[in-house]
Amino acid sequence: MEIKLFSTSALQQETDALVLYLFENETTFDPLTSAIDQALNHGLQDLFTHGDFTGKSAQIALIYPRGSLSAKRVMFIGLGQRADLKLEGFRRAVASSVKKARELKLNRVAAILPFSETWSALDLSRAFAEGAHLGAYIYQGQKSETTEELPAILELFASDDQQSSIETGVKEGSIIASGTITTRNLVNLPPNICTPTYLSSVARNVADRAGLKITVLDKDQIEELHMGALLAVAQGSDTPPRFIILEHHAAQTELPTIVLIGKGVTFDTGGYNLKTGEGMIGMKADMAGGAAVIGAMQIIGMLNLPLRVVGLIPASDNMISSTAFRPQEVVTASNGKTIEIISTDAEGRLLLADALVYAKRYNPAAVVDIATLTGACIVALGSAAAGFFCTDDHLRDLLQAAGNATHERLWQLPLYPEYKKAIESDTADMKNTGGRNSGVGTSAVFLQQFIDYPAWAHIDMAGVMLDLADNPYIPAKGGSGYGARLLAEFVRLWGEKS
Ligand code: BES
Ligand code: MN
Ligand code: ZN
Repeated sequence: MEIKLFSTSALQQETDALVLYLFENETTFDPLTSAIDQALNHGLQDLFTHGDFTGKSAQIALIYPRGSLSAKRVMFIGLGQRADLKLEGFRRAVASSVKKARELKLNRVAAILPFSETWSALDLSRAFAEGAHLGAYIYQGQKSETTEELPAILELFASDDQQSSIETGVKEGSIIASGTITTRNLVNLPPNICTPTYLSSVARNVADRAGLKITVLDKDQIEELHMGALLAVAQGSDTPPRFIILEHHAAQTELPTIVLIGKGVTFDTGGYNLKTGEGMIGMKADMAGGAAVIGAMQIIGMLNLPLRVVGLIPASDNMISSTAFRPQEVVTASNGKTIEIISTDAEGRLLLADALVYAKRYNPAAVVDIATLTGACIVALGSAAAGFFCTDDHLRDLLQAAGNATHERLWQLPLYPEYKKAIESDTADMKNTGGRNSGVGTSAVFLQQFIDYPAWAHIDMAGVMLDLADNPYIPAKGGSGYGARLLAEFVRLWGEKS
């Protein structure tokens, strides 16, 4: 779908549908809406008078103008109360209009932004492009018959004085959406296609598109780095691991550096601590953290954000074979710390451990890892928010601000010393699990053993990787794309506020 601007009169716009976004119970219309109402013989006024349409959020009404306008239909979308409107609400309203257009099989749609004092034309048009592209997204995977992506053309009204800010907003919003779609597509791919090597080939394409430097370490290079924790997970599989490094402004070491790390487990069987059949469904998405980092790096590169940003994705599947690692083995991570394996199903923290050690070489101002790490986090928070842990107040504030702005919310959980006690081992520096209680806290404190810098955050996104219902711009089934927008917005804020 392409978003174009138009500046001719909306009354004369030839289109399958003219879309207007209206606030709840506001019947004193702005001049353009008034002119449209007039052309409709006060059909819009009637909708309000009869109470058929009040502008409540998610409401949709259609009027057929019968020749009085050049548009075939006028579609009204409710935004709710003006005072309550957040950009998130607008993104959702735009997605609803695009989905309605698809349902009606419309090819061409023209929309008018709901200008208000609260939001600039830039903010609104950025949210418009995000809501439209993300709402239009469908994953057709390996289906032999595919459906057309409609509407094909989306036009947005821009008066001459707002032309340039709307153009910028649409461009930025489209970049943000396309990075998120990269993430969704990766999460949705089946594990026989999306192997560590495939993941690195997609990262290469992203690097080309977004002007990033890419380095992909193969198994020999991972061995040279003594990443014994990552290698323990990988050793049971014939599919080799990869360690993917994406860099934005790679050479500009004078810039503050943010390192983003994403768990790239391309399929998690649980290993010898085998998951149940039911528990394995969804585990193709166990690389959703890695996919979020690749999507975020795409956005960061394409927006050319003014920081050095490094994305690290340790990638492997977690399989069973005669060479697979077992419970009670002791493995040594790249910082020399030894880990007693209690469960082979606590594999994510193992590959993250080596990546957290690797991050140190960039002298990072902040390191953020994101991972589908624990079922315990899903039990705690469901899909309402990801859990997160943080060692630095400034980092925490910016991550939370980014979570609120993107509605990819984060809820902070504690790094209590009790959790460290729970992972004490009799035979090694630590165990890889801490027993039944606070599985999410013990996993975070495990990761903390591998950091050697002041500002670190860990995001557990197990509850939000898939199947998020009730948001019109997120598919109800499949990859949500969670994390790409969050991390990119966080980096943007860091550039502004640090
Ligand atoms: N990838 C899983 C966590 C997960 C579970 C993500 C369900 C999304 C949905 C992770 O590798 C795992 O298996 N964690 C174990 C840890 C346990 C063995 C300490 C878990 O949560 O059960
Ligand atoms: Mn696991
Ligand atoms: Zn896992």
